[in-house]
Amino acid sequence: MKKIIAANWKMYKNRDEAKKTLKELISLLPSDIFNQKEILIFPSPVLLQTVAEEVKETQISYGVQNFYPAEEGAFTGETGIAQMRDLGCKYALIGHSERRHILNESEELLKQKTHAALQEKITPVLCIGETLDERKAGLLEDVLSRQLGSALQDDKNADNFLVAYEPVWAIGTGEVAGEQEILQAHAFIRNWLVKNCKNGQKIPILYGGSVKPENSKQILVLDNVNGVLVGGASLNAAIFSKIALS
Ligand code: PGA
Repeated sequence: MKKIIAANWKMYKNRDEAKKTLKELISLLPSDIFNQKEILIFPSPVLLQTVAEEVKETQISYGVQNFYPAEEGAFTGETGIAQMRDLGCKYALIGHSERRHILNESEELLKQKTHAALQEKITPVLCIGETLDERKAGLLEDVLSRQLGSALQDDKNADNFLVAYEPVWAIGTGEVAGEQEILQAHAFIRNWLVKNCKNGQKIPILYGGSVKPENSKQILVLDNVNGVLVGGASLNAAIFSKIALS
């Protein structure tokens, strides 16, 4: 399985900055990197056109950080599936902790998004993870199985999706989960996928939360870690390319 190196740009960058970052990133990545790695970019929706243009001659893929689970319609402020398709998006983040906790997205909505993306052959990246309070209360496995089970409730037979394990307490905090914590969570997710889904052994599981060049190599070699989802450290091409090359 190729390792997946995904950049979540969140609500950063204007079009010039996006262009500059991608030009630099492309110049820093050797062309044979795509034999071992898949590189994905998740920009803000206003940058999708810019990203599409900049990566069109490369094997870099891109997707949305968020969308509404309808083809089109009266949903002010949302991005619809027809628009994602038009922009060439192949992936969609679903359930990122910032959307669950800041935007209060419900598990019911996340289930609808997962179903809609799968129907449209857009690969969902299901983001799951526990808060610090949940971890302290011993609820890690309950939270992970609940989040997976509810997102995939109508799609148990799906095999074209990714999972990103992102402990909420490690996102944007500089505090990366320890090796044992990552191994334990990823093994639990793998077992859950094998038990509950078609081809569960083959679903890539990414780790996310304060990944940087200093820790990416150690994380990427851990059992059941098939890639990383990178926020802060993905904004700078030189730093992100080091993670991609690790
Ligand atoms: P971080 O963000 O790398 O800045 O911790 C990860 C994410 O939000 O996906």
